Amino acid sequence: MADTRKRIDTLAVHAGTPTPRVLGAIVTPIFQSAMYEDEGASTYHDIRYIRLNNTPNHLAVQEKLAALEGAEAALVTSSGMAAITTAMLSVLRAGDHLLVQDSLYGGTHTFVVHDLERLGISYTFVAAGDPPSWERALRAETRAIYVETISNPLMRVPDLDGVVAFAQRHGLVSMIDNTFASPVNFRPVEHGFDLSLHSGTKYLNGHSDVAAGALIGSAELVRGAKRMLDHLGGSLDPHACFLLERGMKTLALRVRRQNESAQKLAETLAAHRAVARVHYPGLREHPGHERAARLFDGMGGMLSFELRGGVPVAERFSAALSIPALAPSLGGVETLVTRPALTSHSALAPEERGALGIADSLIRVSVGIEAAEDLIADFAQALDRAA
Ligand SMILES: Cc1ncc(COP(=O)(O)O)c(C=O)c1O
Repeated sequence: MADTRKRIDTLAVHAGTPTPRVLGAIVTPIFQSAMYEDEGASTYHDIRYIRLNNTPNHLAVQEKLAALEGAEAALVTSSGMAAITTAMLSVLRAGDHLLVQDSLYGGTHTFVVHDLERLGISYTFVAAGDPPSWERALRAETRAIYVETISNPLMRVPDLDGVVAFAQRHGLVSMIDNTFASPVNFRPVEHGFDLSLHSGTKYLNGHSDVAAGALIGSAELVRGAKRMLDHLGGSLDPHACFLLERGMKTLALRVRRQNESAQKLAETLAAHRAVARVHYPGLREHPGHERAARLFDGMGGMLSFELRGGVPVAERFSAALSIPALAPSLGGVETLVTRPALTSHSALAPEERGALGIADSLIRVSVGIEAAEDLIADFAQALDRAA
């Protein structure tokens, strides 16, 4: 069982560090060895081998992850999608049915729509804020429910307590993509979720220099996922484990700073005459504000907004920014700006985006750790030049 008595800042630095330290090294060294001497492993899954995710670097980072979310166990994977697909395939079998939130990260959406059915697994999309619709969609063969803590790009917050209660009432496995919140702002297992999933490429690593994923939950579910991953092969390389572990040491510092700066930026944008609408759970007018305030320790570093004047103004605004990079990812130390209509939601027709409330001029921001004053000044000058 992970050590959950200490605060997350302390766990982020120390949890998982091998004891005694390896030859006294303060930092877990990189064990760049694909295989290890036979120590009498009793099953295939216990042989120590990089693909089986059980080398010293895997064990260190997995213990840290479990501790951060107050869970029994964790498993790292080669990307967030490897964590999501491995989790689904370890929980679901041919003949099973999945309830899944209707606004999902694009890669997850595509996997559900294109691949699950082919494997004999059916699904129904449900509105995460409408619990009665989940009851109506339930079938005898429903096995799991899948949601995201904060949806992209409108930052909606599902009825997370309701999802847990519903899953427990009907004996379903509850799965949640916790990437946008990070363990600093929300720890799903503490709220009763069975499996928490992450793109470690984002906040966990935080430096935009590694692709990784994580799956966190009970020892039993994580063991099942490890067996699936051992076969699928989406394991994390030891050097990437090292980068992920190093990045996570500053997770609490980074995310708290990002929470604060995103709140200031959201308030500034909401008060600007060129801005039509801001989507940020920390704003009182956001539909998920009360729920987020009750469930989360912080409102996150992600926000989006619409400019008056539509796409031409959005284009001029993006070009006039000097600090943020224009790039579709999130969760790193540098502020990133993207237009979902051109990136994450480009596969949808404008009418489909419109039906979801995603304007073509919508701008999504992943707030970094730069000085909030500098970011706000840069956004203000770009708004003035674009309007
Ligand atoms: C919410 C969310 N989940 C999962 C993923 C997939 O992560 P990865 O790119 O590490 O596979 C992403 C990637 O953008 C994401 O934003």
